[in-house]
Amino acid sequence: MVFNMTQKQSTLNVLVLAAGKGTRMHSSLPKVLHPIGGLPLVSHSINAAKEIQKDTNIAVLISKDFRDVETYLSKQHPEIKTVYQSNALGTGHGVKEALSQWAIEGNLIVTFGDTPLVNTQALQTLQDTLNDNDLVIAAMQLDDAAQYGRICTDAQGRITKIVEFKNATPAEKQITLANAGFMGMRLETVAPLLEKLTPNATTGEYYLTDLVELANAAGLSIAVASLDPEICMGVNDRRDLAFLENAFQQRKRQEFMTKGVTLLDPTSVYFSYDTSIDSDVTIEPQVFFGTNVHIAQGAHIKAFSHIEGATIGQNAVVGPFARLRPGTNLGENSKVGNFVELKNTTLGVNSKVNHLSYLGDASLGTDVNVGAGTITCNYDGHNKWQTTIGDGVFIGSNTALIAPLTIGANAMIGAGSTLTHDVAEGSLSLTRAPLKEIENGAQKVHRQNEAKKKAKVKESPTCAA
Ligand code: UD1
Ligand code: MG
Repeated sequence: MVFNMTQKQSTLNVLVLAAGKGTRMHSSLPKVLHPIGGLPLVSHSINAAKEIQKDTNIAVLISKDFRDVETYLSKQHPEIKTVYQSNALGTGHGVKEALSQWAIEGNLIVTFGDTPLVNTQALQTLQDTLNDNDLVIAAMQLDDAAQYGRICTDAQGRITKIVEFKNATPAEKQITLANAGFMGMRLETVAPLLEKLTPNATTGEYYLTDLVELANAAGLSIAVASLDPEICMGVNDRRDLAFLENAFQQRKRQEFMTKGVTLLDPTSVYFSYDTSIDSDVTIEPQVFFGTNVHIAQGAHIKAFSHIEGATIGQNAVVGPFARLRPGTNLGENSKVGNFVELKNTTLGVNSKVNHLSYLGDASLGTDVNVGAGTITCNYDGHNKWQTTIGDGVFIGSNTALIAPLTIGANAMIGAGSTLTHDVAEGSLSLTRAPLKEIENGAQKVHRQNEAKKKAKVKESPTCAA
């Protein structure tokens, strides 16, 4: 079909069906809230629908029992309408109940809330096909159509009906054209047919797919849109969830490599749905990205790093074994080394925290050097406190920074210090217990401990002169 771009698009409505019980997940969390790429399944379906065309009306059909889903939708998608199905009596029943609560006209695309890989392009195909048809069925050509509904056609190749696997004859089970589940309809001609659906004799469910026979009887035109089977796959159990997570990750890896990101071992890197990476970034093996991460051009993420809620500046180097938690902001050319944890912390341009440190609720200027084993003591058991470190500060190793604390620009902190109050610009601060040196003290301690061992004395060994 050739779609004329100047042609006026009909008003589009998308209904996401999500009122099924999802019993096979064996979970206290409703199925559509399980995540793929860090984003609940239902949000994937909503986001794909949002992009089809401007002003698309979207509604999600849920059960009244799904309080968690309702709360989630009102928080994350306040612009989306929620409609309810009293009993899960089948997909046809669900659409009928939805329309009784949702006054819409134009076209309706019905999608599923448990099918996260379906994309805008596929939904656009359905919408475009409705320019010349009353009903469009999304189909997939499969070698083995497994448990999917079968699309039956006549000698001219016209669709006659869809038969569910559980109702199919052995001959119908041989059909390889499967119903993907989604469909599009012109409401004006097809919606009245929903009233004519009857419960299936075997299962008692109202099948949305029975619209095909009713539309044929009414002389309406029906089209089949063939889609990539992978994007049509749904989640029924945890195995499907893992399979689709893997498929999602594969797509993300390909997407980033195509855009100029180097992945040394692509299959060991995990992305979130919203990870954003500029070109010429290199990512070493075994790296995990939680949500809300942006990495600027030329940055290098070394192996075994865990990163979430972080913005990483141009040419910054992170890891190996770094943990960046939400609120981390790394300036250009900054460095975060091994066994370093940052939370709600900003590093200015060229600043370095290279070894074994924890910085939380801290703001560091440019050219700051933080020595190994530096800790911001940001929590007093009740409140979190801020540490502010000026440009050019040098912090010696094994330093405890007791917040709230401000260290002025170009100050120097001696190794092993515990800072309890602010430090002025350019000053040197250090806390040192005087060093005590006892001549031949080591030998004396060894002799005492050896004697105790021989006498089988069970008290603790002498460790100081
Ligand atoms: C459906 C199709 C089948 C197709 C398959 C593709 C029908 C009758 N069958 O079968 O031809 O091959 O999808 O995956 O449509 N739902 C409700 N209310 C209900 C029942 C279901 O909201 O009363 C929702 C579910 O939450 C789910 C979607 O509809 O998101 C599909 O339901 P499901 O029971 O999985 O349908 P299938 O048996 O897979
Ligand atoms: Mg299903």
